[in-house]
Amino acid sequence: MIREKFDLTGKTALVTGSARGIGRAIAAAFAEFGARVFVHGVKPSDPLSAALAACQAFNPACESVTGDLGDPAAVEAIFAHLRERDALPDILVANASIQKNIHWSEFDAAEAHHEMEVNFHATLRMFQLAYPKMKEQHWGRLIVVGSVQEMRPHPEMCAYAASKAALENLVRNLARQIAREGITVNDLCPGVFATDRNAAALGNPVYAERVMNAIPMHDYARPEDAAGAALLLASDAGRYITGSTILIDGGLRLPG
Ligand SMILES: NC(=O)c1ccc[n+]([C@@H]2O[C@H](COP(=O)([O-])OP(=O)(O)OC[C@H]3O[C@@H](n4cnc5c(N)ncnc54)[C@H](OP(=O)(O)O)[C@@H]3O)[C@@H](O)[C@H]2O)c1
Repeated sequence: MIREKFDLTGKTALVTGSARGIGRAIAAAFAEFGARVFVHGVKPSDPLSAALAACQAFNPACESVTGDLGDPAAVEAIFAHLRERDALPDILVANASIQKNIHWSEFDAAEAHHEMEVNFHATLRMFQLAYPKMKEQHWGRLIVVGSVQEMRPHPEMCAYAASKAALENLVRNLARQIAREGITVNDLCPGVFATDRNAAALGNPVYAERVMNAIPMHDYARPEDAAGAALLLASDAGRYITGSTILIDGGLRLPG
């Protein structure tokens, strides 16, 4: 039965940056399909509490965890907490990221480093921390949330786009190395989603029109548009998918 292959009962999932936006929709979908989900945000907040409540409505065993992924000690602390709760993830979605719009000629090295720390280095470290359990049980799902900017970099986000391209490369690298261990590694790659991070930019009608005209579907994605693909990659239904990049972009990557 194909429906059963999507079932996540008995699995523990960590979805970083799931207080809001795409991560929140993925976390809720995992909980709906039975996973014990750890939602995550930088610090305790109303959105994080609401995201947790949405997950607990499906599975009361869901919990929250906090920490700034720009701080390597916080990454270790998150995993120490999960270990204490006997909740090291079977499914890890590295969804949180940061970005700033700055012309490349003025991009500050400290900002570029910070974006690489949160978007790439924290992901690599979390994958290292999650790997031993996945290897031992011969089952695991490592998922990065990339960006259409891997293929179509925005002129004012050179560090962010590079960090996402690095993640895509990491996915292909690790997928080859650990495919025989029952662990898949994939890249879920959004186009333009109507989330908090885009609210200000898309509030500018001139910019919004330019963006909309570049999207073949002529519509922004909604956070829940990412949930089905995430569920596929996280479950046994996606058993044979590894090293892949799945675009959820309404065709935005396609040459115009
Ligand atoms: N939205 C888009 O159009 C789009 C397009 C391409 C790719 N993506 C990617 O999709 C993912 C989700 O994007 P989104 O638009 O849903 O994001 P969002 O609405 O801006 O939410 C970001 C989440 O990440 C968390 N976060 C931010 N900085 C963090 C840090 N330093 N340490 C730990 N957590 C941090 C936030 O926590 P708090 O709630 O505590 O602040 C929040 O929960 C990101 O990787 C993004 O790059 C998005």
